[in-house]
Amino acid sequence: MISWTSPCTVPRDYFLKHVKGVDGIFCVLTEQINQEVVDAAGPSLKVVGTMSVGFDHIDVPVLKRAGIKLGFTPNVLTDATAETTVAVLLAASRRLFESHQHLLNGNWAKFNWGPTWMVGQGLAGSTVGIVGMGRIGQAVKDRLAPFKVAKFLYFDNYINNGKLFRACSVPASVQTPELIVSSMISVAGASKTDFDSLCRESDFVIANCALTAETREIFNEHAFGLMKSNAVFVNTSRGGVVKQSALVDALRSRKIFAAGLDVMTPEPLPTDHELTKLDNCVVIPHLGSATVESRRDMAELTAKNILAALEGREMPAPIP
Ligand code: GLV
Repeated sequence: MISWTSPCTVPRDYFLKHVKGVDGIFCVLTEQINQEVVDAAGPSLKVVGTMSVGFDHIDVPVLKRAGIKLGFTPNVLTDATAETTVAVLLAASRRLFESHQHLLNGNWAKFNWGPTWMVGQGLAGSTVGIVGMGRIGQAVKDRLAPFKVAKFLYFDNYINNGKLFRACSVPASVQTPELIVSSMISVAGASKTDFDSLCRESDFVIANCALTAETREIFNEHAFGLMKSNAVFVNTSRGGVVKQSALVDALRSRKIFAAGLDVMTPEPLPTDHELTKLDNCVVIPHLGSATVESRRDMAELTAKNILAALEGREMPAPIP
């Protein structure tokens, strides 16, 4: 077994060199798994298990054509990611990072309990719009309901060239009729709507969708232009679903109230990036599934996927 044990990302040339002749690859989402990797590994490669639920870093058609089995880690990170979503939502809407900064720089003494100082947006009585009502979207809805949210809206289908896609959770390249049908089933306690209406009507807009050709930069000038001035935008899916320059403009001009981001472009975000300079933007370094329990279960499921494929058994969580 060849392993990269450092907590830092494996350098690409090291990865490509050492992958030669392996039967299986255990990877995380920072590794692009594509033709280059297939070529570098050679014909021995039988399986790739990614320790992630998102698999936009894997060129699925290329690997499937090469007969390589693919596994991922759905379900075991749903709770942790939903918790992170609620955490960044509250941090952004109630200005936690911004106010912590004021506490550190002495402004608390200046504005001490000013009635309008550091006021934020409350969830009670609000409309929450969720883009991507898959496992994580539903878990977020269930966690936010006790905050007395008045209404949940969701968008999960995407009409493109007359075709109905499940825009969220699974890339169009791996759609199956079952998935498309399942995306049309309604979600208890939430009303299905179109994307524009969701942006227009929601006080909180949450991205929980997979990054696909259909969702890439779905949150752009148009989407932010529709949002309310009190809107809080939250993204715990992939940075690529957002046109980041449009988000920066919307935040800087106060077109929307705030954003809470666990994911962005690029990752890691340069420390001097404009997103780090906006007081109405909470950014954390892609920690969605980062609980001890979740990461343990993800690692275990990835190992099980790989061993099953190598032993000729069905993988517990194959990429569809
Ligand atoms: C995290 O972003 C994952 O896809 O598991």
